[in-house]
Amino acid sequence: MTLRLSTLALATAGLLASLTGAAVAGGHTAAPAAAPAAAPVSPVALVDQFEATGGKFEGYRRSGAKGICAMGEFVGSAEGKAISTASAFSGAKIPVIVRFSVGGGNPKAPDNAKSQRNMALQFDLPGGEVWQHGNISAPVFGAATPAQLLGRLASLQADPATKAPDAAKVKAFADANPEVLIQGRWFASQPVPASFGSVNYWGVHGFAFTNSKGEKTAGKWIFEPVGGVKGLTDDEAKAKGPSFLFDDLRQRVAAGQVAFNFNLEIAQAGDKLDNATVPLPEGRKKVTLGQLKVTSVSPDAGGSCLTVNFDPNRVPKGVEGLGDPMLTARSASYAVSMGRRLGEGAKQQ
Ligand code: HEM
Repeated sequence: MTLRLSTLALATAGLLASLTGAAVAGGHTAAPAAAPAAAPVSPVALVDQFEATGGKFEGYRRSGAKGICAMGEFVGSAEGKAISTASAFSGAKIPVIVRFSVGGGNPKAPDNAKSQRNMALQFDLPGGEVWQHGNISAPVFGAATPAQLLGRLASLQADPATKAPDAAKVKAFADANPEVLIQGRWFASQPVPASFGSVNYWGVHGFAFTNSKGEKTAGKWIFEPVGGVKGLTDDEAKAKGPSFLFDDLRQRVAAGQVAFNFNLEIAQAGDKLDNATVPLPEGRKKVTLGQLKVTSVSPDAGGSCLTVNFDPNRVPKGVEGLGDPMLTARSASYAVSMGRRLGEGAKQQ
């Protein structure tokens, strides 16, 4: 089991994040990996591969398994209203379901590793409309297409004989698909987040916003903590141990300290908006669309998150995705995962 878990940590700390270029450098020489197939990838195949590579944890989300449900409220700004007709930006208080989690399918993933944190949201808008997000603590995702994600995860799957990933396979796939290393390098370069409330969360996909004049503004968003980004030193992270984030969140929320500005970085002509491994160039104009405040945290594994799968294609009128194949692929995979975890008797919100 230890080996299994260490494979999991490598493979799914942030879905794919932890196997950095450095970790495989100097690996064996190998034949080049085949390029990922262009054929559509089935959501069942993707979720099966998450389980095959990261382990199967019945009753839990196949990604973001270690999580906690919270509630919050969002108030849109005048700038938000100016760029989109979405009712989220009316300026009225919008109730939001918030789920914070640690990346990967392991419900016991350590809180003190340099891995992915997630902030998933559901804005409950007037008239029964909802807006769901699954935001991550990196400006990029670990693969550009579903086929590339599948190939990367397959390359990280433990060899049954050695119970560890085959370094030659891992290297060959990464050599042929260098995008899969970008996210891991990001996490390796960042400190362990001090709390769920003190790290940036990116949407990573491009979205377009349409205002009442029919004008469109396209960009990528980022939730930035109002109190600033704070990380732990390596010694502090070690001292904190593997499970501090939930209690820490409860304390900070009780003290009214967890809030994020919802900022949009506005794209310029030529910027890539349909590839989640390519961030917008530095220095793009940023507007604050509103502020999210977290107001309460579930005292246990309960809360309102159980039957929510935070599908980022569920957008309100006035907001639309821009054809990123990774965005499109998320809906069906999330539904497969939710079906499995509910069918298994969900153990955690
Ligand atoms: C084809 C690509 C992807 C697949 C197959 C996939 C798979 C999954 C699965 C199975 C879940 C659990 C869903 C549930 O049981 O409710 C999940 C959750 C999540 N994913 Fe993905 N994912 C993909 C792409 C992405 C991307 C590009 C991002 C980057 C923002 C992302 C961020 C998240 C987050 C933040 C969660 C946690 C949501 C929660 O708290 O429930 N995923 N993903």
